[in-house]
Amino acid sequence: MKIVLIGFMCSGKSKVGRVLSQKLKWPHFDTDELITKQVGATPGEIISSQGEPVFRDLEKKAVSVVAMLNDCVISTGGGVPLDAGNMTELSKNGTLVWLRVRPETVLKRAGNLNSRPLIDKNDPLGSVKARLADREKFYAQAKIVIDVDDVSPEQAAQKILDMINIPSK
Ligand code: S3P
Repeated sequence: MKIVLIGFMCSGKSKVGRVLSQKLKWPHFDTDELITKQVGATPGEIISSQGEPVFRDLEKKAVSVVAMLNDCVISTGGGVPLDAGNMTELSKNGTLVWLRVRPETVLKRAGNLNSRPLIDKNDPLGSVKARLADREKFYAQAKIVIDVDDVSPEQAAQKILDMINIPSK
């Protein structure tokens, strides 16, 4: 099996994924990192320079590669669950975990908004609220939900492990 972390930007998917992988001694894959290595540009840079559809296409290919793996932890980009095919592939042999975050927390953690083209700099809170509201139904497909506003990546990882029964090999 594998653990697949989904959720909005700045929910801590990459950090929690790294902690989980250390605890489980499983490899960790991060779709945004795979794309960055492959293209030599970050998701934000690809979206700004080539447009979102180009990025979503690369993302779908990265998902289909990691979806084939087992005994690993996968951190996904915030838009991965919007594609039904991505969710079908990741659910096969994967336990989906939604790291749920409040809009205010997203902005507290986001840092420089220039690297986040999907957040409107003229109305950051409004745009995050609207996008999050649109996406909740996709994230809600996860079997497990962890609220991460007030917990560290370490605590979130431990909560996940407490809720998932990992079969021993
Ligand atoms: C996106 C989230 C980003 C990245 C890209 C698009 C999104 O990843 O994949 O900028 O659509 O929410 P993080 O969720 O890791 O920030």
